[in-house]
Amino acid sequence: MKLVLVAGARPNFMKIASIVDAIDMHNSKVRTVRHRFEYLVVHTGQHYDEKMSGTFFRELQLPRPAVDLEVGSSSHAVQTAEIMKRFEPVLEKEQPDAVVVVGDVNSTIACALVASKTTYPTEPHASKKIRPLIVHVEAGLRSRDWSMPEEINRVLTDAMADVLFVTEEDAIRNLRREGIARRKIHFVGNTMVDTLLRHAARAEQSPILQLLGLERPRRVGPTTINPYGVVTLHRPSNVDDPHVFRGILDALLRISQTLPLVFPIHPRSFARIKEFGLTSRIKMLGPEHGRDIEAGLHCIEPLGYLDFLRLMSKARIVLTDSGGIQEETTVLGVPCVTMRENTERPVTMSQGTNVLAGTAKEAVVRQTLRQLKRTVKSMRPDFWDGKAGERIVSIIFKTVAKGTHTRVG
Ligand code: UD1
Repeated sequence: MKLVLVAGARPNFMKIASIVDAIDMHNSKVRTVRHRFEYLVVHTGQHYDEKMSGTFFRELQLPRPAVDLEVGSSSHAVQTAEIMKRFEPVLEKEQPDAVVVVGDVNSTIACALVASKTTYPTEPHASKKIRPLIVHVEAGLRSRDWSMPEEINRVLTDAMADVLFVTEEDAIRNLRREGIARRKIHFVGNTMVDTLLRHAARAEQSPILQLLGLERPRRVGPTTINPYGVVTLHRPSNVDDPHVFRGILDALLRISQTLPLVFPIHPRSFARIKEFGLTSRIKMLGPEHGRDIEAGLHCIEPLGYLDFLRLMSKARIVLTDSGGIQEETTVLGVPCVTMRENTERPVTMSQGTNVLAGTAKEAVVRQTLRQLKRTVKSMRPDFWDGKAGERIVSIIFKTVAKGTHTRVG
């Protein structure tokens, strides 16, 4: 059985890592070659920097991509089209049984669309044709906000997928409402949480807190707290509009007067800060800062997986517009304030540590102060138990073995 695993942008790498681990485990257990998975990782190159990509492959011990499509950054249409053009010959050559796409980025929809229309003969010279099974990991999440490129990617990828793996119960309802057959949907848990749990102990060895001068805890009343919060921000709706971005920065600056904020800054956001003339409002912190951090909004370069996990796990609070971080803070037991009007991950609010604040200055400050007063603990929504990857691989195995889904001629 042959699988192609697609990864393109930073949050994909953590999801793929769990599946790769589970495949390796499956292969180590089966006796016959026929029951083994052969797999190759295809990197689309949507993210290409050492800091946005390379370091994740090393830290998560992912195999080197067998193919790098090297598409790089461009407009949505150009990026999606380039991925499609370059992925098609890979599928034609490799002829896998299944293509696994994860998450909601442009690489996800582009490769699912190519897989949905690429056919090859069942055997050399056979007239019957098959196409690969399309497997979507993290299906069914919906923000119902069609201005988000990710929402379009989610809905359309799910419409094409043959096997849909969901992380939370709400996703099943969303998919059913869109007419997707129940038999295609599998509630398996969260691959990003698998990876977090697997690497938590290694992350504890990260020196990032010492390097940034954050390791000394402070006593506040009867409790000891680490005196910093973490910020991440990169949604186009938050950083591409100068008015919205200024409002968010105002809120962060206000909060950072009493709680220093560390902001590993996404390249898109950094570019906008320069473009909008906002550089004087942030402080750039070198990687070897070493001294106790002071009040203020401290920007640093994007961090690798283990450093970021360590930074986040000891933070007093996390302010973000990321999807995955809403989930990670839930498991880590760190209060999270999501600077968006909606979330496609409602379980992080109902069973987790997350609140929605929107992006208006006063609301962000108010929700942050409220969250800082809350006592939260680590939460594990259903099936967020570190075994999602194993469930996924077992279901893919059974589905490919049946071989009925993908016959097209
Ligand atoms: C993409 C995803 C988003 C995901 C995010 C994680 C889509 C539609 N968006 O958004 O869902 O949450 O990744 O980061 O797929 N850049 C670099 N180095 C890189 C990659 C990008 O400097 O390795 C810069 C480029 O200047 C580029 C900008 O970052 O213009 C944005 O990158 P892009 O991949 O277009 O989208 P993201 O905003 O990262």
